[in-house]
Amino acid sequence: MYTVPKLEDYSPAALDKAAADLFAALDFETAALTSEADWKALRDRWLARKNGLLTQVNDIWLKAAPKEAKRDVGQRVNELKRLAEAGIVAAHEKIHASSADAKRAAERLDITLPGVQRPIGVKHPVLRVQDEIVAVFKAMGYSVGEGPEVETDYYNFESLNFPPNHPARDTQDTIFIADQERKPTRDCLLLRTHTSPVQIRTMEKLAPPVRIVIPGKVHRNDPLDATHSPVFHQVEGLAVDTNITFCDLKGTLDHAMKALFGSSVKTRFYPSFFPFTEPSADMQVSCIFCGGKGCRKCKFSGWIELLGCGMVDPNVFEFVKHNGYDPGRVSGFAFGMGVERITMLKYEVEEIQLFYEGDVRFLEQFA
Ligand code: DAH
Repeated sequence: MYTVPKLEDYSPAALDKAAADLFAALDFETAALTSEADWKALRDRWLARKNGLLTQVNDIWLKAAPKEAKRDVGQRVNELKRLAEAGIVAAHEKIHASSADAKRAAERLDITLPGVQRPIGVKHPVLRVQDEIVAVFKAMGYSVGEGPEVETDYYNFESLNFPPNHPARDTQDTIFIADQERKPTRDCLLLRTHTSPVQIRTMEKLAPPVRIVIPGKVHRNDPLDATHSPVFHQVEGLAVDTNITFCDLKGTLDHAMKALFGSSVKTRFYPSFFPFTEPSADMQVSCIFCGGKGCRKCKFSGWIELLGCGMVDPNVFEFVKHNGYDPGRVSGFAFGMGVERITMLKYEVEEIQLFYEGDVRFLEQFA
């Protein structure tokens, strides 16, 4: 380790030699620095007022110099101190720069790495078929609407001609929102059991004529089995105008089924009952598995029941008469179909639960 030597003489040559040794030592020490702490130790060793190496240079070289050499030695020592201090400051900057370099290097993003591959998903089969059904009706000039999943008793039942306590309500039991005992029945909130309430909501907003389809999620107190789920999807349809007949209903739905299942499919209409349609029908399609010959899937009947429909009951129009729906002047048809059921037929899915389990082995077959 460098120590400040006594000068034997004060000739310029001796001063040159002493300065060269001092800078050689300083360069050697600064080159070995690796941290801020190293640098601080070096700074203290060289620059400390009390007994730092440069103070020693002052004491040992300058103060000890004979009178006649003092001027020259003084100049040399000052110059040397200035240069040494500058060297030490420069060494500090170098340490900072190299630690910033190291930090930057550690944070560097290698854009040539392959990256994380996230497989791109596809539309869920139920949504895909729901969109397909909607598209078939859009092509016939229908608009698309939506309504709330949490619905009032009024829209879900009363305005659809389900009187309070009517047994038809039992087929559509559902979850009611708690703590509503003080409300009048019609204002009670429930999870809608079908998309039909949006028929009334639409007719309240839009005067006739209307042609609309309404896709959406519905809820029922149905135990889960191979073909039933307490939550499922429907597409509702409503057409109201002057002179709409059952013939229009049959033609529209027959066209829609051919668009969905292929042109060879046939439809037939069976008498049924819904409080909000009169007459009401269940529409059946010729079995898409056996073409109508009879198989296990259609229980050897050749037909598969697919949806409910009918002519809008005049009692329903009474609830929206104020908006131009005078049952003496307008007529209409309505229908409602289960999206899961149609998806199961189209893709030969045998268990409804497969749609909700999120098992990629099932879903990736639709990619
Ligand atoms: N809302 C009925 C249900 O969920 C289906 C239905 C039947 C809808 C006849 C209609 C209709 O619009 O006219 O069971």
